Amino acid sequence: MIRSTAFAASALAAALALASPLAMAQGAKLKVGLMLPYSGTFTALGVAIENGFKLYVDEQGGKIGGREIEFFKVDDESDPAKATDNVNKLIKRDNVDVIVGTVHSGVAMAMARAAKESGTLLIVPNAGSDAVTGPMCAPNIFRSSFSNWQSSYGMGTVAAKQEKKKTAMTITWKYAAGEEMTNAFKEGFEKEGGKVSKQITLPFPNVEFQALLTEIAAAKPDAVFAFFAGGGAVKFVKDYAAAGLNKTIPLYGPGFLTDGTLEAQGDAAQGLLTTLHYADGLNTPKDNAFRLAYAKSFKIQPDVYAVQGYDAAQILATGLNAVKGDVSKKAEFAAAVEKAKFDSPRGVFTMSKSHNPIQDIYLRKVDGKENKVVGIASKQLSDPARGCRN
Ligand code: PHB
Repeated sequence: MIRSTAFAASALAAALALASPLAMAQGAKLKVGLMLPYSGTFTALGVAIENGFKLYVDEQGGKIGGREIEFFKVDDESDPAKATDNVNKLIKRDNVDVIVGTVHSGVAMAMARAAKESGTLLIVPNAGSDAVTGPMCAPNIFRSSFSNWQSSYGMGTVAAKQEKKKTAMTITWKYAAGEEMTNAFKEGFEKEGGKVSKQITLPFPNVEFQALLTEIAAAKPDAVFAFFAGGGAVKFVKDYAAAGLNKTIPLYGPGFLTDGTLEAQGDAAQGLLTTLHYADGLNTPKDNAFRLAYAKSFKIQPDVYAVQGYDAAQILATGLNAVKGDVSKKAEFAAAVEKAKFDSPRGVFTMSKSHNPIQDIYLRKVDGKENKVVGIASKQLSDPARGCRN
């Protein structure tokens, strides 16, 4: 009897210690849940994000906000139908302090919903869903990447104003990211006097492009704007060139079309113009150091996804340092991130009130294996955050 009472008391003390700020002060690990695609067309993107995040943690001696880190991983398969179950593995089963994820906009929207309900801290290291920092914006949700609108609006203005194109067709996967990026291109293009004649879609993650390329060839627009990424982008750019279209109809895109993919796209991608918040050849001290360290650690060149993973960790560190490692101080965490100025490999970015980066959008041109910066399409562009009431 005495023994079992003593046992129960110590078990209770242990449970309390786990959950309390005292435990944190005594060095409990910070539980970080990585929910990313580790299978399917976006696999390489998920891996680059994880690498970038871990590089920053390593640079801080393995600790963030004074706490060591324990990682929990879930493969979300870029499948929105499984997203709520998957995110709840991290929130309810693993009881993580912060979730970092994901790549796919449809999956990210389910994650944002769950984060909003549970109050768990969420840092989105890619998915551009306009809604996440629009109508769904929340004090505990941050994004280290871009909004879909932000990535593509500038390409529309450049295509009309600088490239002097009058008509364009768009082609993409039919889901939030594809629709929001092609609509942003259309908005920029038509504001400058162009006309988008048709918006073609196919289901995610299909790569049967042949009939659609035949349709584009027959319609002969002045330009095509496409969003695909990862494995799908490699296939699309190669098919576009194989059909001979790269000789007659210039192909534009958000930079995802050619980022992390040039090795596989080879000649098919040469000369393509894209817009993105990162580029090769920025040649800043921060970017040079980042690229060197990343290549040394992972034996591969970094891409935009690696940068976004690195900056997700920078956001976490900024917030956690301000609250001395206590994630329960949500308002103070948010206030610190909102007023921070990040020295990112992409350049300086600050957070908007809706928690999306305000950043330069570069114009890039494929040259060999690089997306060389050739200009700035939009200086310090902020997402309009339509519907956010933060
Ligand atoms: C998205 O679904 O938001 C998404 C996916 C891949 C990208 C960019 C955006 O490269």
